[in-house]
Amino acid sequence: MARVLVIGAGGVGTVVVHKMAGLPGVFSDIMLASRTKSKCDAIARKVGGDRIKTAKVDADNVPQLVALIRTFKPDLVVNVALPYQDLTIMDACLETETSYLDTANYEPRDEAKFEYKWQWAYQERFREAGITAILGCGFDPGVTSVFTAYAAKHHFDEIHYLDIVDCNAGDHGKAFATNFNPEINIREVTQKGKYFENGKWVETEPHEIHKPLNYPEIGPKESYLIYHEELESLVKNFPTLKRARFWMTFGQEYLTHLRVIQNIGMAGIEPVMYEGHEIVPIQFLKAVLPNPGDLGENYKGWTSIGCRIRGVREGKEKTYYVYNNCSHEAAYAETGTQAVSYTTGVPAMIGAMMYLKGLWKKPGVFNVEEFDPDPFMEALNQHGLPWHEIHNADLEL
Ligand SMILES: NC(=O)c1ccc[n+]([C@@H]2O[C@H](COP(=O)([O-])OP(=O)(O)OC[C@H]3O[C@@H](n4cnc5c(N)ncnc54)[C@H](OP(=O)(O)O)[C@@H]3O)[C@@H](O)[C@H]2O)c1
Repeated sequence: MARVLVIGAGGVGTVVVHKMAGLPGVFSDIMLASRTKSKCDAIARKVGGDRIKTAKVDADNVPQLVALIRTFKPDLVVNVALPYQDLTIMDACLETETSYLDTANYEPRDEAKFEYKWQWAYQERFREAGITAILGCGFDPGVTSVFTAYAAKHHFDEIHYLDIVDCNAGDHGKAFATNFNPEINIREVTQKGKYFENGKWVETEPHEIHKPLNYPEIGPKESYLIYHEELESLVKNFPTLKRARFWMTFGQEYLTHLRVIQNIGMAGIEPVMYEGHEIVPIQFLKAVLPNPGDLGENYKGWTSIGCRIRGVREGKEKTYYVYNNCSHEAAYAETGTQAVSYTTGVPAMIGAMMYLKGLWKKPGVFNVEEFDPDPFMEALNQHGLPWHEIHNADLEL
């Protein structure tokens, strides 16, 4: 029986509170707080049963967060607002000695650069306060990191090559839309590519390296090497890795739109003057693009995200592929959101459950691969994200 405060009433927040509400034995009191309270109220009504309390909070404002935490007294704060809010929410957690979980690492607003250094810098203060911070507990980062830890624990003596493969083979019927917050998504996919090899980071031009990869039940999809945040913590926590890369599928239509958006300056993060007001182009773009939370209704097809790993076991080289396929239609039928929100929200709920059951609880700041993967893997199967394994197949990479 525990109290949990969820911050951020977007697509991911919708799934998190839906799933928590179905487990009253674990999450007895749930509060959803966000910048726009009406969005929290609409989600609470959909979940029903008076399970979700709601509140308004500006998560950029530490005193407001502290006041809310002091009033509601949660055992854990789950941050599914935006990466910009990570540090203010962590500050409020420190001040109130409350544990913390998120799904995306901190990014400064004025620089499209995500790194763990800002959040890892809280390590000593969280340890001294006796509270836990669980970082990156969505699907990628999150499940992909747990998949890697599970592979290292059960299937290899040493893992050497890791390729995280993220395929969205769904069709939402729109000319262009992003599957989660457009501002964060476009900042992520338009930056330079980067991967780790032989102890060094190698940078590429955006989308420079690509190849078709076969995804189970889906088939071949052109996959592009991009930088993704879990690579930074995985190479630190699994020092036997000789190479670690991340691949994501994009359709030609999506890439063409993206190129136009960039070429005409609409992906810009520097403010420009428009009719006497300062506006940030990418934030204006977000206002005119489809809301990712509304894509679910007509979304068809599957996501397929997994880890393709090569390493050694008892002196012999072996390969291992662990993945989950998630249906957009099934995610929508269950929670009213598409699979990208679903595959992020379910692991965030499971991470919260791991903490509240005392299975992932230790003072300090941790990435998810630093905890025991076994109970989390079991919970994925029970709560809507079943996973599959393929041993010793051709990884194509
Ligand atoms: N690890 C993964 O696999 C993964 C995958 C996808 C997404 N994510 C992360 O999940 C998070 C949520 O994504 P999403 O798609 O749900 O985004 P979203 O639909 O844009 O929702 C974000 C919510 O946060 C609220 N918010 C923003 N700034 C706030 C502030 N200052 N104070 C209070 N609330 C604030 C927004 O409120 P308003 O509606 O009032 O603006 C919105 O309701 C993001 O951090 C994203 O990077 C992780």
